[in-house]
Amino acid sequence: MHEETPVIVACPNGPLLVRGDVPIENPDGTPVQKNRRTVALCRCGASVLKPWCDGSHKIIGFRTDLDHGDVPQ
Ligand code: FES
Repeated sequence: MHEETPVIVACPNGPLLVRGDVPIENPDGTPVQKNRRTVALCRCGASVLKPWCDGSHKIIGFRTDLDHGDVPQ
């Protein structure tokens, strides 16, 4: 049986999409239950459902197209 290679996609101005069998853990090492094979992880810091993206990145205007050396505000 062929195992699917997990993939992480950095969405422009949005979350990290994790596709495949990738365990997700809290900082203390406890597993976070996934209900889907593809999940969206927040990388803007504004989600109230962390570690999942809840769409808040759109409300706060999160941008990922900063030039190198720029510091996100
Ligand atoms: S990336 Fe979507 S809420 Fe943070």
